[in-house]
This record gives sequence, structure tokens and C-alpha cells, in this order.
Amino acid sequence: MRMYDIIMKKRNGGELSKEEIDFFIEGYTKGEIPDYQVSALMMAIYFQKMTEQETYNLTMAMADSGDRLDLSAIQGIKVDKHSTGGVGDKTSLALTPMVAACGIPVAKMSGRGLGHTGGTIDKLESFDGFTTGLTTERFIENVNRIGIAIMGQTADLAPADKKLYALRDVTATVDNLSLIASSIMSKKLAAGADAIVLDVKTGSGAFMKRESEAKALAEEMVKIGKNAGRKTIAVISDMDQPLGFAVGNALEVKEAIETLKGNGPADFLELCLTLGSQMLIAGGRAESSAEAEEMLRAVIADGSALKKLAAFVEAQGGDSSAVYHPELLPRATIVRPVTAPESGYLTHIVCDEVGICSLILGGGRETKESEIDLSVGLMLCKKAGDYVEAGEPLAMIHANDEGKAAEAERRYLAACRILAEMPEKTPFIKGIIQ
Ligand code: URA
Repeated sequence: MRMYDIIMKKRNGGELSKEEIDFFIEGYTKGEIPDYQVSALMMAIYFQKMTEQETYNLTMAMADSGDRLDLSAIQGIKVDKHSTGGVGDKTSLALTPMVAACGIPVAKMSGRGLGHTGGTIDKLESFDGFTTGLTTERFIENVNRIGIAIMGQTADLAPADKKLYALRDVTATVDNLSLIASSIMSKKLAAGADAIVLDVKTGSGAFMKRESEAKALAEEMVKIGKNAGRKTIAVISDMDQPLGFAVGNALEVKEAIETLKGNGPADFLELCLTLGSQMLIAGGRAESSAEAEEMLRAVIADGSALKKLAAFVEAQGGDSSAVYHPELLPRATIVRPVTAPESGYLTHIVCDEVGICSLILGGGRETKESEIDLSVGLMLCKKAGDYVEAGEPLAMIHANDEGKAAEAERRYLAACRILAEMPEKTPFIKGIIQ
């Protein structure tokens, strides 16, 4: 078999066989097929697309390109959750203690972020001393003992995806439905959970800008999961504006803590309850969404979800006193408002742009080597649909540098549209694909 023939077949619109997909994934993982040939194939796939069968075969080839995590030593049905990502997405920080407090074991692999804010691991490092550098044995022991453990992605979990995703990132071939679906699902399948709940975002801050595209991606991933023998459910949610009010690492941790105390923003709480309900049903803890939601609200009300977060932070070396005293989390030295230039309805906040504001402030990584400033970011004061008076704050900027604060302020203002007409309200949860 020759890589040249595989590229040409796809370039001409042909369907690749399982053997051809296995050949290029194995060859690329081992370093036998060079980046330039795989880049050409990715671009051919981008234009010619992949069939459902090809997408499934690509997912399985990548899932089998390294180790698969064996979670059989963890008691109970393991339910994993994955978000396609967005601005202010701190869902794992609140959702995992909530479902763990309801008896679902959470054994999660998370990543660091490249882009506007850090990933879940970066955010958790806002707790002084927190580490995700656990051995597999300790990871499993922690899940059995306290119900949650999160560790960093090991090099050997779906290594083909790791190489391929990095290559797609620099060759403008990320945003292809089959490539995104197979990339996400290969990691989830290798991570070993019995059931997978996917949080697929749509809107100006998401990969999938249009709802129809998000739905197609969700359907593709659910099909892959089912064909691989895992119960898979996808929730489609709005990312046309930031999730909740906080954007930035420590600020998002604080908001997750507030949510676990019962003071969460409405959209963020709705997302945690919707995803959490699907996780409890998939994990056999609840029969219906209504029953699951009641259980999730109860663990917030009685403080057990917050306690679970503290136990988890402590078990991974972090200072859990910050869970009860969030003022101990990293704080920026400059806090100043971005004020509305006129009165009216805030009809739209360009979500990607808010992410870029956070990046400018130092809250994200431009390159893999960049250091993150955990303390900086933005706290939104108004969300799309709210009325604002001229001179009222639209958001508070948290910064450690005057110049960066001024640049973020300019950009944030440009991202906000204020009109006289009240905008139409759209549902936050767009659908659930079973
Ligand atoms: N997230 C992934 O893990 N892979 C993609 O291709 C896109 C988003």
C-alpha cells in the first residue's frame, strides 16, 4: 500500500477502506509517513468529506493507536463528559462534584488549553498545590475513595489523534465534521468510560457556528459511540455568548464554587443540570430527567457537592480552604469597568472576541509554551438580552497590566452591540441527541 495512492483516491472523491485508514494512521503514529503527505490527505478529506463508515474506521484506528485506559477496577458505571469547548466553559469544575455527590464515579482525563483561557487543568491549578500528575493506580484509588479524580492526558492515549490534531491546527483542516467527531471520540473511547455525555456547543464562540452543523456533529459522535458499544448522548447548547459571567481561570473557578453554593448564573446552572441529568440516567442513578434534576439540586442545597469539590482538590494536593474562602484564589491587581457608551438592549456579544480579550489579558496561551496568568479575565455584568443604561458597566476587566486592560476594554466594547429593540429570546439548550 502507498500513501500516494490513498491521497489520490481521497482527492478524487473515493471512499477509503478500513485497511487504508489503518495503514495511514499506523504509519503516521510510528513516524513512517511524513507530515506533508498526511497534510495533503487532511486537505483532501476536508474538501471531499468522509462517509459514516470511514469516520467510524478513522475513530477506531486512532483509539487503538496507543493504550486504552482500563477502568474496570472502579466500581459502578463510569460516565465521562466532554465539551466541544467555548468561552467561559467551566462546566467540569461544577458538574463533576455534583454528579460525584450523586454517586456517579468520575474518572476524567482533561487537557490544558490552547487559546482564550486555560483548559480544566489550568483552571484547577488556581488551587495552590493542585496537581493532575497522578499515576494510574492513584487515579483509580482516588475515584474509589472519594468519587472523583482528574488526570492529565497521557502521551499514550490516542497518540495518533494528538499528532493529527496538532497538524490540522496548522494546516487549516480542523473544522471538518468527520475529523472533529473522530478526534473527540477516539480520545473518549480510549479513556475507558462505559457511557459518554457530550456537550456540543453552537454559536459565535463555538467550532460549529450554525445550529444545523452542531446537530450534525452531535449525531455523528452519538453514532460512533453507539457503534463502539458505548451509551452516548449529546446535548446541544448555546455558545453565542460566554457561558455564565466569568471568563478567565480563577474567575471561572470562583463562579463554579458559587454555583455549588446555589448562587450560579442561570445559563450555567441549566447546563450543569441538563448534562448532569443525562449522566445520572446513563449511570443508572435516575430514571428520568425530573428525578435526576431533583437529586442534583439536592446536593447543591445540602452542601455535599461543594464538600465533594473540597475533597477532590485536597486529594490532588490542592489547598481546599479556597473552596470555602474563594478570596484566597489568585486575584488581579487592576479591576475596572467597561461602560456602555449608550442606553439600549445588549443584543449580541461576539463570543470569540471575549475569548480574545481574555487572551490579551494573559489568561490564555498563544503557544504551547506560554505561561498563563490565572488571575486575569472578565466578569460580565450584562448578558445578551439585558437592558443597559449609558455609563453602566457591561463587564469588569481583571488585569495586571494597564496597557493590556485598555486593549481588552477597546476590544470588548467593539464586541458588544447595543440596539433600541429588545432581541428575540432563543432557548439555551438547543436539543438532546440520544
Ligand atoms: N476538539 C478535539 O479534541 N478535536 C477536534 O478536532 C476539535 C476539537
